[in-house]
Amino acid sequence: ISIILSQTKATVSDGIKVFTVATDDTHGLERFLRSARIYGIDVEVLGKGRKWTGGDMNYAGGGQKINILKEKVLELMKSNDNKDQIILFTDSYDVMFLAPIEDIVNKFKSFKDTRVLFSAEQFCWPDSKLAGQYPKTEVANPYLNSGGFIGYLAELSEILNYKPVKDLDDDQLYYTKIYLDKELRQSLKISLDHESKIFQNLNGALSDVQLRSNTTEDWPYIENVVTKERPLIVHANGPSKLTLNHLGNYLAKSWSMKEGCALCTEKKIELKENELPSVMVAVFIEQPTPFLEEFLQQLNNIDYPKSKIHLILRNNVEYHETEVDEFFQANFKNYATAKRIKPSDFISEGEARTIAKDRCVNSVCDYLFSIDSVSRVKPKTLRYLLSSGYDVIAPMLVRPGQAWSNFWGAINSAGFYARSSDYMDIVYYAVKGIWNVPFITNCYLMKMSVFRNTEAKSISYSVEDTDADMAFCSNLRQLGIFMHVSNELDFGHLVNPENYDISRTHPDVYSMFDNKIEWEARYLHDDYNINFEEGRKHLMPCPDVYWFPLMSPRFCKEWIEVMEAYGQWSDGSNNDKRLEGGYEAVPTRDIHMTQVGLDRHWLHILKEYVRPLQEMVFTGYYHNPPVSIMNFVVRYRPDEQPSLRPHHDSSTYTINLALNTPNVDYEGGGCRFIRYNCSVQNTKLGWLLMHPGRLTHYHEGLRVTKGTRYIMISFVDP
Ligand code: UDX
Repeated sequence: ISIILSQTKATVSDGIKVFTVATDDTHGLERFLRSARIYGIDVEVLGKGRKWTGGDMNYAGGGQKINILKEKVLELMKSNDNKDQIILFTDSYDVMFLAPIEDIVNKFKSFKDTRVLFSAEQFCWPDSKLAGQYPKTEVANPYLNSGGFIGYLAELSEILNYKPVKDLDDDQLYYTKIYLDKELRQSLKISLDHESKIFQNLNGALSDVQLRSNTTEDWPYIENVVTKERPLIVHANGPSKLTLNHLGNYLAKSWSMKEGCALCTEKKIELKENELPSVMVAVFIEQPTPFLEEFLQQLNNIDYPKSKIHLILRNNVEYHETEVDEFFQANFKNYATAKRIKPSDFISEGEARTIAKDRCVNSVCDYLFSIDSVSRVKPKTLRYLLSSGYDVIAPMLVRPGQAWSNFWGAINSAGFYARSSDYMDIVYYAVKGIWNVPFITNCYLMKMSVFRNTEAKSISYSVEDTDADMAFCSNLRQLGIFMHVSNELDFGHLVNPENYDISRTHPDVYSMFDNKIEWEARYLHDDYNINFEEGRKHLMPCPDVYWFPLMSPRFCKEWIEVMEAYGQWSDGSNNDKRLEGGYEAVPTRDIHMTQVGLDRHWLHILKEYVRPLQEMVFTGYYHNPPVSIMNFVVRYRPDEQPSLRPHHDSSTYTINLALNTPNVDYEGGGCRFIRYNCSVQNTKLGWLLMHPGRLTHYHEGLRVTKGTRYIMISFVDP
C-alpha cells in the first residue's frame, strides 16, 4: 500500500492524456488500472458501462474503440488549442504499464520525425495479404498493432476522422490502411515501434521476451532479448493473454525477491465477526478416497460459524456412502442449510458441480468454497481465502514429496497441463505469493457476485468429453475471469488416491506409501515419538527384552480384521507349503503378510519405525534395511492352538507386537523367557516386545485359557 501511495503522489505530466476503452469492469481492467496507479499514470477509461458492439475479439472487430476515442478527441479538439497535446491510447483488458508516463513520453520523443507511433507486432493481422505493402519488413516486429499508440492530438484527430468506421469493423485494419497509404504516413509522420522501445506485443514474441525476476536490487521487468530493449508497456494481443497473466504476477511491482508479494496485501479485507459473509461449502467425493473419515472430520473443523455455512455434500462413491450418510445425519443440523447428492441420484460430476454453483448464485450466499475429498486443509484456510480479497482463489495443495498440485502454472494449446517456468518454485515455496494461473482444482473459493452477470451466470462444469474442472476453468479463461492460487502460507496438502484399492479390507492400512501423513497420524502409536525423547528410560520387563509403544489401537484392530477377513489360518502342522523347505519345526496358527499383500508394508514398518528403536537399545548393530522373511500374525485360542512350546527363533532379534489386550480380549497368554524364568503377561495394546532370537532368549508362548490372543511376529535378520 505504501508503494501505491507514494506512486500516486508522483506528478503526472500535465501535457499528456492517457485513454483506454473498457466497457466492462473486468479483472483485466483491474490489473491495467493497478499498473497505472503503481506508476502514477492518470488514465481516463472511456466507454464504461456501454454495450460492447465491437464483436467477438477472437475475430476481426474493435471498431467501436475508434468511435469511442473519436468522440473524446473531438471534445479535446474543441476545448483545447494545444495541438501539441500528447495522447496515449492502449487497450486495457490485456495491457500493463511498466514505467511512469515521463519515461514513455521521453521515449516517444526520441523517435525521429514521428508525430504518431503505433505499436508493432509479428503478424500482419487481420489481413495478411497486406504484408507486401509494408515499407520495412526486415525488422523484429514489422506490422502495425492497434492495441497501443501515442501521438499528438492534431495528427491523431486526423487519423480518427479519416473516414467513418463501424463498431464491428476492425480497428487494426483501419489504422493499418492509413499507415500503408504512403502519402498519409509521411504527412502525418506515422511510425511503428518495431523494436518495442515502448510497446511490447506478446503474440508471436514469447521467445523474444524474457522475464527478469531474479534480480535482488530491482523489481522484475521484461527484456526483449532480440532488440535489447526494456519495454514500457506490455500488451497480450490475440491468443497470448495467458502469458500476461503469468508475467503480471511479477510486473508492475507485483512481486520481488526483496519485497515479496505486493499482490498479497493490496486487496486484503478485514473479516468482521458480526458481518461474516455466508459461504456455501460444496463437498465433492468423486472417487474412492483414502482416509475419508479424517476428511469429513476436517469439514467439522473449518474455523467458521456453521450458521454462516450452507453445506452441499455430494458423494458419488457407493463404497463411502454409509460413512458419508452417518456424517451427514450427525452434523447437518448445525449448518444454515444442508443438502445431499447421493450416488443413487445418478448425477454426473459436471452436473453436480454446476448444481452447487447455481444454487449459490441464485441464493443469498456470498461465496462458494468448493472442496474435494482429496484436499486436506487447515481449519483457517477458508478465513484466509475470504480475507485475501480475490474473487477466485485456491489455497495451494500439493501431494507431499511430489510435484502434483491443485493448480497448473501454464496450459498447452490443447488445453492440458503445461509447466510454467516458476511452477516448481511455487510448489516448493521458493517463491511465495498469490499467483494468477490458468487452472485450479480440488479446493477453491469463488465470490458469487462475479457469477451473477448474464455471461458468467451460464458458466457450467459440463462440457462433453471434458473433465469438469477443466471445462469450468476453460469457461473462466474465456470470460477473462482470473483464477489465483496462493502459497503465501502452508494450507495443507492433497492425499493420493491413485493406488487406493477398495477391494481390500481396510484399504487405508495399505495406503502407507501414498499417504504417509494420514497413515502415521492414524496408525502410529500416540506415544511413538516419546521413545526417542532424550534420557528416556526404556521399559525392560525381562533381561534384554525391550518394550516400546509402536502402533495405535486402531492399527491393531484393523490389522486383526484384515487377517480374519482373509481367514486362511495355517493348520498348525509341521508341513507348511508357504515355506521354502515346506517344513516348520515349531508351527503356529498364523497368516503370513505375503498372503494378505502386506509384506512390503510390514517391511517398511520394520525399516522406518522398528529399526530406529533397535539401534537405540542394541547399540552397535546396524542393518538397514532389516531383512525379515517370516512376518506373520499368530492366533492363540483354547480350542485351536492355545500355546507354543519352548524354542529359539531363527533371527538376530525378534519382535512381538500385541494386537489385543489380556483380560479384555482373552485370558492367560504371554511370553516366558526360560533362562531368566521371566514372563511378560500384561502385554499392552500396540506395544512391541523386542528381544534377541537365539542362545539367550529361549522362550515359549504361554497358554491362552479364554478368548483369542493375536500377536504380530517378525524374525529380523535371520
Ligand atoms: C487485438 C489488437 O491488439 C486490438 O487492437 C484489436 O482491436 C483486435 O485485436 P486483442 O488484444 O486480442 O486485440 O483484443 P482484446 O484485448 O480482447 O480487446 C481489445 C480491447 O477492446 C480490450 O483490451 C478492451 O480495451 C476493449 N474491449 C473489448 C472492451 O472495452 N469491451 C469488450 O467487451 C471487449
